[in-house]
Amino acid sequence: MAQVYNWQLGREMEYPYGEGDTTRQFAAVFNINRCIACQTCTMACKSTWTFSPGQELMWWNNVETKPFGGYPHHWDVNLLSKQSELDPGGQTWDSLRSATPTQPYGVFNGKTIFETADGTEARVTGYLPPEDDWKAPNIFEDAATKFPKQGATLPVHDGWFFYLQRICNHCSYPGCLAACPRNAIYKRPEDGIVLVDQERCRGYRKCVEACPYKKAMYRPTTRTSEKCIGCFPRLEGLEPLTEGLPTETRCMTSCVGKIRMQGLVDVGADGQWLHEPNNPLYYLVHEEQVALPMYPQFGTQPNVYYIPPRWVPRDYLHQMFGPGVEQAIDRYTNPSRELLALLQLFRAAQAVIFRFDIEQGPKVNEITVNGRTQEIFNDTAVGFGADGNEIVRISVQEPFFERPGKQNSI
Ligand code: SF4
Ligand code: SF4
Ligand code: SF4
Ligand code: F3S
Repeated sequence: MAQVYNWQLGREMEYPYGEGDTTRQFAAVFNINRCIACQTCTMACKSTWTFSPGQELMWWNNVETKPFGGYPHHWDVNLLSKQSELDPGGQTWDSLRSATPTQPYGVFNGKTIFETADGTEARVTGYLPPEDDWKAPNIFEDAATKFPKQGATLPVHDGWFFYLQRICNHCSYPGCLAACPRNAIYKRPEDGIVLVDQERCRGYRKCVEACPYKKAMYRPTTRTSEKCIGCFPRLEGLEPLTEGLPTETRCMTSCVGKIRMQGLVDVGADGQWLHEPNNPLYYLVHEEQVALPMYPQFGTQPNVYYIPPRWVPRDYLHQMFGPGVEQAIDRYTNPSRELLALLQLFRAAQAVIFRFDIEQGPKVNEITVNGRTQEIFNDTAVGFGADGNEIVRISVQEPFFERPGKQNSI
């Protein structure tokens, strides 16, 4: 086992391989607060990549209703329970330490899925879901914890649920890759996308067992496993719409609720994201710290980040997103001027935004949120593509158009 640094845990951890040679990393931010569970993203992926025989139970993108839903059923509860059994009382955070750039959320004291594995029978702790568990991807949709007699109020709703959008996290330390005895899984250096080599795969399913997010899936017709490919042809600029520029994935660009932003971040020789505060992904994750990894304690350093839902009990969110939850919700509820402007860029363009700028505008409003007064400025967020040229600009205040008095015949 090598020692690698996992910034989400604030410490080094054991992993079967070193940091690798990734120079850029696929990453995304999902704003849970805005998702309407329309499943357009789910169908965009299905109709593009998994419509063939043998792929009937495969949903590389799925949106499940928490806390009861799950695809496959109870994927997270099953692994959380197993980790607790193997590391009794150990799955805790030492978040009282003062935050530093390399330890923004303190230190995770417990063992990861690589560290609870015995290393002989399995390199990674996991489990193989039975086939039936994959058959109802949207089970318990819209099921709340209870129906409150009173209306719902913030900061925490009495009866609650929320939608959780899930794709492969293209992890920095993938469980699937670590577990494959055939070395059939690899991480592309140019964008960090994790792929299964279909020529090498022999269907051992160790990847299915080891992925903590259950995003590697077995296909019985080919007897191989498959997974989200990060829509890599689009990232390579093969989508005609954006004329050679890297394009966001199918599930991102189709998002009706405008909850998703995807991008590429530069990675240094130490495996960490380079300090690039004008990259929108870097800004949301490392500068504002408003977007958090899902189940960071598993240890794979996932690269999809979530703005947590404001109305959900904090202990539940703490287990799912780690110690940064209170701060992230606070910053989202009372956003800085920069954050409010940047949030407008979600789904404003199809091409990947590599850099953003904010042009300041006049003050247009003053509102009170949770007892705090907040000034609203009509700033403009500008997004730049891979070639450095401007691809989109959008202001905080939506433009107002007055229709002419005389209507046309339609
Ligand atoms: Fe592998 Fe799962 Fe991580 Fe995707 S989410 S890279 S399938 S471990
Ligand atoms: Fe599917 Fe592409 Fe989204 Fe992956 S990135 S879930 S392959 S649409
Ligand atoms: Fe949610 Fe967007 Fe998917 Fe609709 S398309 S379910 S809003 S993530
Ligand atoms: Fe390896 Fe998974 Fe195939 S473990 S052999 S990639 S099914």
